[in-house]
Parts: sequence; C-alpha cells; structure tokens
Amino acid sequence: MQQSRTSAPAVVGALRAQAERLCFVTNAWGAEPRARLAQLLLEKSGFEGGRVFFTLGGADANEHAVKFARQVSGKPHGWVITRERSYHGASYAAMALSGDARTSAQADAAAYRVLHVPPPYAYRCPFPAGDDAACGRAAAEHIAAVIDSLATVALRGMGQELAGEESSVAGMQRYRLPARPPAVDGGVAAHHRRQRHARHL
Ligand SMILES: Cc1ncc(COP(=O)(O)O)c(C=O)c1O
Repeated sequence: MQQSRTSAPAVVGALRAQAERLCFVTNAWGAEPRARLAQLLLEKSGFEGGRVFFTLGGADANEHAVKFARQVSGKPHGWVITRERSYHGASYAAMALSGDARTSAQADAAAYRVLHVPPPYAYRCPFPAGDDAACGRAAAEHIAAVIDSLATVALRGMGQELAGEESSVAGMQRYRLPARPPAVDGGVAAHHRRQRHARHL
C-alpha cells in the first residue's frame, strides 16, 4: 500500500494528462504514446528488430501468441503443448491451453489442438527421476516424444476425418486419431500428400 501511495500521483497524473489529450485509440490504429512504449520495451528487452503487439490482458496475449506462432510457422492447425497444472486465462482457447482441473470440462483441449504434458515438478516428479535435474531432463524428453508422436499422427492422418482408432500419443488419450488411409505408403503423390500434411501439423 505504501508503495502505491507514493508512486500513484505520477501514474495518475500521466493517466489524466493522456486522457485529456486522447483517451482511446482502437488497436487497429497507431498512437504516439503506444509507439513510444513499444520503443522503450524493445530497448529494455534488447529485442533488436523486434515488434510489439499490445493486448488487453493475459488470455488475449496467449491467444495472439498461439495465432502468431501458427501464422509464422505456416501451420494454421498446429498443435500447442502446454503444461498440466498451468493457468493461461479464462477465454475458451485460454482454458484449453490451461492444464487446470477447474475448467478442463468447459473447453476440450484436443479440439483446440492443445496437448498437456506433465511439468518438471521436482517435489513430486511425475517421472521416475532421482533429482531435480533428472526430473527436468525426463520432462523435456517426454515433450520430445510427444512432438515425435504428433508428427507420426500427422502422417497417418492425411486427409482423413477425425474418427477411428484411439490415440497412442502420450498425453492425448482423449483425442481420436484419424483412421489410417488405405494408400499411405509408396508413390510420389502419397509422398507429396504426406509432406503437405506434415507442413500443417
Ligand atoms: C500465467 C498467466 N497467464 C494468463 C493469465 C490471464 O490473464 P488475464 O486475467 O489478464 O486474462 C494469468 C492471470 O492470472 C496468468 O497468471
């Protein structure tokens, strides 16, 4: 409380001055104070050549982060891996990203192409590991295995609807795998189809 009392006048003064000048600019428009703040953030973070995107809050930021990652990687339906026991916000996509028992029934993670993996929680490590470092390594190896499994799923699922076999992918037991297409092996066309689909993983 003490700190907010001493710092508040400067903050309140700046808020008042800005509100008197211009109190709202939609995200689609540029604004000078926003540009200045972006510049400051880039300088402080040392993110040379970076760009800043302002969001409304945490859930919004996470949704945009996923969107940007999918856009940049050219994988519009790319899978996102997050931790069990995590909180990413209260919007539907953020609930799907969250590994949170309180909201897991409200958003089907697999429908949002989200997989949850156990965290390297050394106090009660979910992997058989002797110490903290081993727990961290085991968690990282698990993520690597999940990524490999997803690549396999993408190859197996070419052009198929979501139906059929149960998944063998660690952490996505509720996700129903596409049935294996009849002509998945052999042939140049099949190879190109596989590559095309893998790009959309
Ligand atoms: C790690 C993390 N991500 C996301 C959020 C969601 O932020 P917001 O409530 O601003 O949407 C929170 C909020 O506590 C958070 O702690």
